[in-house]
Amino acid sequence: MINISNISYSYDTNQKKPIKALDEINLQFREGEFIALMGHNSSGKTTLARTLNGLIQPQSGEVSIDELSTTNPQDIIPIRRKVGMVFQNPDNQIITTSVEREVAFGLENLGVKTEMMHQVVTAILERFNLTKYRKHPPHLLSGGEKQRLALASVLAMNPKYLVLDEPTSMLDPQGRHDLLNLLAEIKADNAEKKTTDQITIIFITQFPEEALYADRLIVMEKGKVVFDETPEIVFQNIAQLKKIGLEAPVEYEILPLLVEKGFGVEVLDKFR
Ligand SMILES: Nc1ncnc2c1ncn2[C@@H]1O[C@H](COP(=O)(O)OP(=O)(O)O)[C@@H](O)[C@H]1O
Ligand SMILES: [Mg+2]
Repeated sequence: MINISNISYSYDTNQKKPIKALDEINLQFREGEFIALMGHNSSGKTTLARTLNGLIQPQSGEVSIDELSTTNPQDIIPIRRKVGMVFQNPDNQIITTSVEREVAFGLENLGVKTEMMHQVVTAILERFNLTKYRKHPPHLLSGGEKQRLALASVLAMNPKYLVLDEPTSMLDPQGRHDLLNLLAEIKADNAEKKTTDQITIIFITQFPEEALYADRLIVMEKGKVVFDETPEIVFQNIAQLKKIGLEAPVEYEILPLLVEKGFGVEVLDKFR
């Protein structure tokens, strides 16, 4: 479990007042949960994500990952093994000169033996539909393929927690669709595993339809958590979401209007 206990974080800029990015956040992420995180620009989503593997140390409060704590310097390396991160722009994440080397890189760092590494790379490339590009330099891939490669390279290391910071925001519709299908597959695989072996997904997205993939939706506003419910419940609060610059998926926006006009609630089924 990831336990975020009363953390606050301010960026100390040269301006008079520091910018408060996280304001007394308390959250728990349990094994196998698929959590979406939404919020207007600058609400603190990326800052929160970066506290989860110790890239950022909160000025107060504590983040613990299972038995480890990001406040203990000796825990940072094991924490980074457990918490895999995928960022918005795959170009900032891809560091090697071929697709297979990219997937192998993290495994080499973990000291995985050559034979085993070869097996893992082959299996992961196949699963992510990247086998045909095995020897290609990553910069020749499309945006969607690069993001699949970034995700493949992180999953090759078998993380227990997967944090994705707006991974679809730079992709075209096909690329978004492919990435979401991969997340849905991880969720389906979880159902077959023991709780302790399940991957927890923390998925930051600006697209409300994408949040419907999650079991739980956390909404942030000005460094605070303002919703933490199932997406279906959160999206019924249309007016409150609008106030903080967010929208619900189109069916949630339209449904109340249809009901007002005398259609029955069964119209919702037509959208699904
Ligand atoms: N490196 C930084 N230096 C100064 N301020 C920052 C930095 N990164 C983020 N901020 C500020 O912290 C707040 C939260 O930012 P961020 O966590 O990136 O939000 P989000 O990911 O939700 O857009 C914003 O006001 C942003 O301007
Ligand atoms: Mg961000």
